[in-house]
Amino acid sequence: MKTADKNISIKKAVSKDAPKIAAIHKNCVLKTNAQFYPKDVIKEWIKPITVKNTKEQFKNSQWFVIQARSKIVGFCQFSIKEKALYQINISPKHQSKKYGKLLYDFIEKLFLENNINKIYLNSTLNAVDFYKKSGFKKVRKIKFKLDKTSVEMIKMKKDLIRIKKSKV
Ligand SMILES: CC(C)(COP(=O)(O)OP(=O)(O)OC[C@H]1O[C@@H](n2cnc3c(N)ncnc32)[C@H](O)[C@@H]1OP(=O)(O)O)[C@@H](O)C(=O)NCCC(=O)NCCS
Repeated sequence: MKTADKNISIKKAVSKDAPKIAAIHKNCVLKTNAQFYPKDVIKEWIKPITVKNTKEQFKNSQWFVIQARSKIVGFCQFSIKEKALYQINISPKHQSKKYGKLLYDFIEKLFLENNINKIYLNSTLNAVDFYKKSGFKKVRKIKFKLDKTSVEMIKMKKDLIRIKKSKV
């Protein structure tokens, strides 16, 4: 999908994108999430972020990448069936350039096109205000269990409003 800026596009992730996706994911945890979580949590969090695991997860959820001048700058993972947005990650050096918002708007449009009326997500502590800006409300705190530690997250929800086309 082309966006208003012709240099920016969103496309379905394919197997050969997995190394770049895993690298961006790891980098986000080490540079962005690390500012909000203890060191021992970060250490455990990055362990399962591998190319193999990323490819494995392509099977049971939808993955898209956002590209600027044909280079991947971020990605998202969601499941329309589960009404769930699992993650949006923008490479730290490309954050705050509206790429996250573009990916989110793309996802919301897909959910609406599939007649889904709610989106649930577990937000990292650093991303809560980003999701609030897109209309999500906090539901409750949750703990995502790792091996020895756990990642504190905020469960959030957005009700999607379908705008019915009126007959004229
Ligand atoms: C959270 C994240 C996806 C946001 O993407 P981004 O491209 O940096 O954000 P955008 O530039 O699209 O920002 C859109 C709006 O949200 C705001 N925003 C973005 N990140 C924010 C933050 N951490 N706190 C407060 N506001 C934030 C922006 O100011 C902007 O507001 P505006 O429209 O009023 O100008 C990105 O910072 C990221 O990848 N973080 C690390 C990974 C992560 O934790 N992801 C969430 C997993 S659930």
